[in-house]
Amino acid sequence: MYTTRKIAQDTIYVGASDRRLAKFENLFPIPRGVSYNNYLILDEKTVLLDTADAAVSGRFLENVAHALGGRALDYIVVNHMEPDHAATLGQALNAWPGAQLVCNAKTLPMLRMYFPGCEAAVAGALLVKEGDTLALGSHTLHFVMAPMVHWPEVMMAFDDATGVLYSADAFGTFGALGGNIFADELDFARDWLDDARRYYANIVGKYGVPVQAVLKKAATLPIRMLAPLHGPIWRKDLPWFIAKYDQWSRCAPEDKAVVVLYGSMYGNTENAAEALATRLADKGLANIALYDLSVTDNSVAMAECFRASHIVLASPTYNGGLYLPMEALLNDMKALALHDRVFALIENGSWAPVANKLMADKLAELKNATILDTRLTVRGALADAQSESLDALADAILGSM
Ligand code: FEO
Repeated sequence: MYTTRKIAQDTIYVGASDRRLAKFENLFPIPRGVSYNNYLILDEKTVLLDTADAAVSGRFLENVAHALGGRALDYIVVNHMEPDHAATLGQALNAWPGAQLVCNAKTLPMLRMYFPGCEAAVAGALLVKEGDTLALGSHTLHFVMAPMVHWPEVMMAFDDATGVLYSADAFGTFGALGGNIFADELDFARDWLDDARRYYANIVGKYGVPVQAVLKKAATLPIRMLAPLHGPIWRKDLPWFIAKYDQWSRCAPEDKAVVVLYGSMYGNTENAAEALATRLADKGLANIALYDLSVTDNSVAMAECFRASHIVLASPTYNGGLYLPMEALLNDMKALALHDRVFALIENGSWAPVANKLMADKLAELKNATILDTRLTVRGALADAQSESLDALADAILGSM
């Protein structure tokens, strides 16, 4: 049975959700699943905006066929070529062979890479560039190039009749949709914001500058609805969510807060991290978040680094280097271009502690990273005699807030 919903005049949601996939991109755990959003505009011309992941091909194709109601499909707009959206493009072209592809010049070589059997459709594609339009009847699509949000070929389409911005991955969120496809039908701040931030930080986070560029373009459009390729559609409170994207893409912390991220082999480094958190709490700091990196997915840790202003890292020295989960996190900080954060460091080492130096060296590669001079070294277990040092570290953190 179809699962379509009308979202605006002549505009139908034809997407589908996957609740079985364990990891998005085979990397990021998605216990709440993920949606692949697609939209169909039924005007004098009919147009499908993007296709879907292979895992939901059956539901997606049935939804499109139902929404078309026997009409021909005139256009398929390819806003993004990544296979979570384009994997079923070949199937869509088989189902509606008269459809003309609409894409930009950067999309063409990717179409040839992924769909060598569709050369005729690729050769006949309608190429669009920044500012080009596609008249459908009473609706006209305006194309906005959005390179590197999240791949080089990404573009967005704005429908001037409905005010819908088809925003590709931008404004996307992890999480499957079930009937309620609008953010205002859900408690987004309570149930979705953490996954939206995690999606942003890990999927788009590296591309803050291109996101800022596209936000500036979007600000010139009379947008009434944001229709991303993943997660809920926004028809109310758009400024609230756009402000989140603005904040995330500037890598500006959402909260003046401390997040403590530790690795610990036998619980001693964990104890030092928790003892510091306790001192901070005693001194009046609220909303401290503390995570064991051995049981916390990196995508969650990175999302917390995007959220918080102050980050405490605590790591054992391991094989003369860093404990592996800490090293992975620091590599991700660099890869995802985290910047403008304050860091405090705790190391542990029974005979040759070097973790603080190694963490500081890695953090120095981040833009505008402030690494507090006050640091703590634990030799095995945190000793009672180090109480003053612990206080000094807590005071240094609080003094920097
Ligand atoms: Fe949802 Fe960049 O693909």
